[in-house]
Order: sequence, then structure tokens, then C-alpha cells
Amino acid sequence: MTDEAPSGPTDSGARRIQEVAMGYYSSQALYVAAELGIADLLESGPMPVPDLAAAAGADEDSLFRILRLLARDGVFELSGGVACLNQAAEQLKTGGQGTMRDLVVIFGREFYRAFGELLSAVRSGDDAFRVTFGRGLFEYLKENPDRGRAFDRAMGAGAVFFNSVPDAYNFAPVTTVVDVGGGNGTLLGSILAAHPHVEGILFDAAPVIESAVAHPRLTAVAGNFFNSIVEGGDAYLFSRILHDWSDQQCLKILANCRRAIDPGGRILVIERLLPGAYATAADVNMLAVTGGRERSREEFAALMSRTGFELRRVIPLPLEYNVIEGAAV
Ligand SMILES: C[S@@+](CC[C@H](N)C(=O)[O-])C[C@H]1O[C@@H](n2cnc3c(N)ncnc32)[C@H](O)[C@@H]1O
Repeated sequence: MTDEAPSGPTDSGARRIQEVAMGYYSSQALYVAAELGIADLLESGPMPVPDLAAAAGADEDSLFRILRLLARDGVFELSGGVACLNQAAEQLKTGGQGTMRDLVVIFGREFYRAFGELLSAVRSGDDAFRVTFGRGLFEYLKENPDRGRAFDRAMGAGAVFFNSVPDAYNFAPVTTVVDVGGGNGTLLGSILAAHPHVEGILFDAAPVIESAVAHPRLTAVAGNFFNSIVEGGDAYLFSRILHDWSDQQCLKILANCRRAIDPGGRILVIERLLPGAYATAADVNMLAVTGGRERSREEFAALMSRTGFELRRVIPLPLEYNVIEGAAV
């Protein structure tokens, strides 16, 4: 017998381990609700869980238990067996700018499966998505056009920081923005809407630009940034691109950009910076899903200086994102 307090589930270290270990319960429950379209079914008002289960094609008891966990976590409200939307659950509705349903489904379906191979990926140094699906994320999205469109919509739902880019950065001296890997053009569209003197070129893989937003000052150009990048811009935007790739691959992309851009032109890299809290988490997602990485300001400065750019300044955006401006030198 010792005088030491027994360590058990009340011990704060053990509780912390339990919370971290159980994280997937909540993320998978959220995915199930998103996949079943529960938020859409509740759009016109609260529903008893049995009716909701019938409408969703789900088992009543199982759905109730999923919703009870989500309500505990602050997503949906559940009272007396009746479920309704709350502010967080609203984000799971389909359609509309900013919907997070596609993002939750991508995370819960493809990325969750990839994380199941994290251990072997860490041992081998390969990315877990490739270990799981036999090909890289962007090849997979190309081969599965429905999932590709869902991914593009999920990226477009980054509206929280997209909307602040047109004001955060001074576009007054800019003539033409090339959005490299611009997805469906949501961010570029918001820059063009806010700055009527700016022309936009959306540069991405062919299947992606097919579903791009329409805008009279937006030209879509298909291409592969590992081969070459379209010329004609004085500001080249890389929003959430470089974190998808290794340093060697980023050097190739930036060198291709340097060939396309005139001296004095700018690159606007939109990324989170280590050691931020979101960046630290996103870095493991990149390790698992793309084989890329999040980086510190110094690491971006080094990539830029090796490819003929100079990091000039960092402008903070919401959700830990930044515009990292580099000038062609
Ligand atoms: C993480 S998404 C970012 C999309 C958008 N810039 C944003 O911030 O929401 C990466 C984008 O890079 C594009 N991409 C991937 N490989 C590419 C390549 N080799 N050439 C051109 N675009 C590519 C993808 O199609 C996708 O739209």
C-alpha cells in the first residue's frame, strides 16, 4: 500500500489520452450525419427521430444514438426525441456558399480510410492515401469525377478566408491575377467581384476547370503546373497548393512560375504557417493525404529564394491563413 492517489479514469493524464483516442467517434458520427443528409431533412423544422430515420433510410435507434453524441458535441439539438438544427448543424446543409457538407464527407470517407494506414505510411515515408487507394489524391479525384467535384466544392467552402482576401491584399496595382490550382474559381471570382479593374486566369487540371464559376473577366486555362504555368499575370496566386507537395515538387512549381512571370511580378501564397495550432494539425493531414507538408515562414522564404523570388511580407487572414507575398527578383 502507498499513500499515492490511485491513477484511474479521473486522473487528468488518463482523461486526456481517452479524449484524444476517442476523437474519431465524433468525427465519424459527424460524417454519418453529413452522408445521410440529416441537416437538409431538418431544414423545414424539428423532426422526431423516428420520422427523421425513416426519411434518411436509417435505423431509428442507431440514428438517435449518433445524434445524441453530436448534440453533446454541440452539433444538432436533441430534446425529447426530437432533433433540430443549431448554428453548427446549419453548416452541414447542401448547397450555398460555405456549406461544409462536402468537406465533412471527404474527411469522413476518403481521408478517414487513408488515416487507417497512417502507421504503415509513417514507417515507409509514403503518403497514407497512396498506400490505401493505390494512387495519389489528385489522380484519384481525376479518376472519380463525382468525388473530384465534391472535393472542388469542399475547397470552395473555404469561404471564411476567401472573402477576406480581396480586402486584405492591395490589388490596386495588379492587372491580371493567375490563380494556379484555383479549383472551381471561387476565390478568384471573389477577387474579380471586389476589384473591377482586375482580369483573372484560372489555371487547373482540365476536368476541374470544366465546372468553374462563370465570370466575364475570368478565363480558364487547363494545364499541369509541373510542366508549365500560363504566362500573362502580374500576380500569381497559390492558395493551398504548396502544402500539397514536397519541397522538391514545390521548387519545380515555383520555378515554372518564375519562368512565366516578369520581374516585379508577385506570387501570393495562401497557407497556414507552422507552428500555429491549425497548421500543426493540418500538417499531419498533409502527411497522410497528399504527401505534402505545412511550413514555417522561414521554410517558405527558402523555397522562394531558391526559385528567384523574395518573401516580402505576410498578411494574416482568418483561421490562421496568411497571404505570403513574394516578389520576382
Ligand atoms: C487543395 S486544392 C486548392 C484549391 C484552391 N486553390 C483553394 O484554395 O481552394 C489543390 C488544387 O490543385 C489542383 N492541382 C493538383 N495538381 C495539379 C497540377 N499538376 N496542375 C494544376 N493543378 C493541379 C487540384 O485540381 C486542386 O484544384
